[in-house]
Amino acid sequence: MTHILQIDSSPRLERSHSRALASAFLEQWKPYHPGAIITHRDLVRDPVPYLDATWITAKFTAAAAIALSDELVDEFLAADCYVLSAPMYNFGIPAVLKSYIDYIVRPKRTFAVTENGFKGLITHKKMILVQARGSDFRYGSAYASMNFQEPYLKTVFGFIGITDIEVINANRLNTELRDQELAAARTTIQALAATW
Ligand SMILES: Cc1cc2nc3c(=O)[nH]c(=O)nc-3n(C[C@H](O)[C@H](O)[C@H](O)COP(=O)(O)O)c2cc1C
Repeated sequence: MTHILQIDSSPRLERSHSRALASAFLEQWKPYHPGAIITHRDLVRDPVPYLDATWITAKFTAAAAIALSDELVDEFLAADCYVLSAPMYNFGIPAVLKSYIDYIVRPKRTFAVTENGFKGLITHKKMILVQARGSDFRYGSAYASMNFQEPYLKTVFGFIGITDIEVINANRLNTELRDQELAAARTTIQALAATW
């Protein structure tokens, strides 16, 4: 049975476009997968704290004091696919999402260090990335080179082994083109929901 982990990170809650598009995807996807389990990790309603020195020491010595990280990693590993929604914040991602990533990118649990370099330990799992942006960061646009959101998320999840990543992007949401952008994103959602 498919088990999805839905991860949301926009503080705008009900007004968030990235959350709404992720939910719209799941609503359309569910009828194709009756019985699927969806676990929701809301990084705003239930934020993870920033790392401190105790935790970092524990992480690298495999000592105690990493219970929250263990819990988040266990939850992450229990899923077999992911729907992650994120606003673009200052060309990157919100701090709550970065903090979460710092807890789940764990040596020996989600990546390994081998003689041949790093190896992601999460294999055969796929992700949908839902990204909302106020301005235009589409590939080929004037500000495309300033987009550290999608390249970062693809890099860090690729690092732990998740390379099958589909993207639903909504750009220009703070312009008069918002409705057009949202309609285009929903067309992408419809196609993906039927095939993913
Ligand atoms: C703190 C902050 C930083 C932002 N930085 C960017 C940015 O770098 N590029 C951009 O296109 N939009 C930026 N925006 C606009 C948001 O990406 C946009 O409003 C988007 O819809 C937010 O996602 P949400 O609707 O899911 O909350 C920023 C908004 C905030 C509040």
